[in-house]
Amino acid sequence: MAKLFIDSGLQISEIDRRIFGSFTEHMGRCIYGGIYEPGSPFADEDGFRLDVIELIRELGITIVRYPGGNFLSGYDWKDGVGDKSARPSRLDLAWHSLETNQFGLDEFMKWADTCGIEPMMAVNVGSAGLKEALELLEYTNVDAASKWAQYRVANGHRDPYGVSVWCLGNEMDGPWQLGHMDAKDYGKKAGDIARGMRQIDDSLELVICGSSSRSMPTFGSWEETVLDHAYELVDHISLHTYYEDHGDLQSFLACAVDLDHFINEVCDIADAVKAKHKSEKTITLSLDEWNVWRLSEFQALARPQTWEVAPKLIEDEYTVADALVVGNLLISILRRSDRVKMACLAQLVNVIAPIRTDPDKEAWRQTTFFPFAYTAKLARGTTLVTRIDCDSIQTTKFGEVNSIDAITTFDKETSQLAIFVINRSLSSSEALSIELSGFTIIDIVEQVTLTDTDLTKTNSYSNSQAVAPTLKKTATFSENIVTLTLPPASWQVISLSVRENK
Ligand code: AHR
Repeated sequence: MAKLFIDSGLQISEIDRRIFGSFTEHMGRCIYGGIYEPGSPFADEDGFRLDVIELIRELGITIVRYPGGNFLSGYDWKDGVGDKSARPSRLDLAWHSLETNQFGLDEFMKWADTCGIEPMMAVNVGSAGLKEALELLEYTNVDAASKWAQYRVANGHRDPYGVSVWCLGNEMDGPWQLGHMDAKDYGKKAGDIARGMRQIDDSLELVICGSSSRSMPTFGSWEETVLDHAYELVDHISLHTYYEDHGDLQSFLACAVDLDHFINEVCDIADAVKAKHKSEKTITLSLDEWNVWRLSEFQALARPQTWEVAPKLIEDEYTVADALVVGNLLISILRRSDRVKMACLAQLVNVIAPIRTDPDKEAWRQTTFFPFAYTAKLARGTTLVTRIDCDSIQTTKFGEVNSIDAITTFDKETSQLAIFVINRSLSSSEALSIELSGFTIIDIVEQVTLTDTDLTKTNSYSNSQAVAPTLKKTATFSENIVTLTLPPASWQVISLSVRENK
């Protein structure tokens, strides 16, 4: 029998709700035809799809990064504000598309406000720099009789938006990025931009670009160099990660161990720079792109011959296995809630997204929607150390790994514990006992299980419930022990009402 041990005194950290973030890029049908579709039977008078907004609320999204992504590095934010009929169409070099600029900063702010979501903005550090970043910040946040602040007012937006979180570029370590630089040049440029932005507002939270993946040849040295140049000027360092099944499902189901390493390594490097600089400040992490993505299929495609508006791009259909991985990646993120303060599931609608739309069809939920929605709903308060005693499984990619992974959260306000657990084994079911110390169990509030005998199953518009979690309470409990069964390849969350023992 596998065991989890949880002690009320062993807390990891308070959870920053911004780890339940997402990402909307001008890419494919994420913005156009995703969140924004004027004329759609589902859209309001601003062109925002209300069916999508309803699902975003159900998903529990707290913060959304915008406007990219690779798109950002060729984007001139001024093209996307002012009179819509005068906005220019431009080539989007990142995705070989035509950008009409009918949706821009003011539309995004209004949309985020309608959704009740915090906006997270990014400044172009690829084809633009300090001047454009300062003008954008002035337009967005400043209340003054100055040119760009007044331009916002003239565009009908009297009050500044007060955006707190700003990313300094996107994936500047990647040779595919417009304006890609080496770490030293980027560290200096990002530092200069950060210094300037802080001259406008010192309270901003600034995110410097870390690595676009753990497998980048520059990973490690990139973080060290950019932080060396800008340590005192920024608050967070980004990390991006995407996983896919390369024909080895058992390894894929265990890929969260790679994220565990990635997070730990970025923390270690940031702390080494902290020590070197004898700094008082600890840099925290913004995992502002993460997901499952069949990236190699996308990379194998030929570049389009035409420049289309909002072409269908990377609309991956997610399987049950993909959803289990998303559930496990959220466990990894929660485990390091002491350092991961923001995380963005990339992306939000249509483009590798938990929500899908088609014109004239009501939006539907992909399989990955469910572990995210239940984690955002039930992971509240603080995370607790969750000691795992279980068998290991052999994987080709990651060697021997625990068959089970888990994390616990405790919400003092509601006196509810939530235990998130995944059985990564493709072949064995597991009996699991969860031993609590410092808590007395009052009742099982909710038990949610996601599994299927067919791990390749997906949802579609016509079969939108093909994959959905079950809500049967099969677990039993005594005073301080919960017992349940984990089917092979399954994700569960069990929430308990408890009393804290004095
Ligand atoms: O999310 C899709 C793309 O993946 C983003 O534009 C880029 O930042 C990353 O490489």
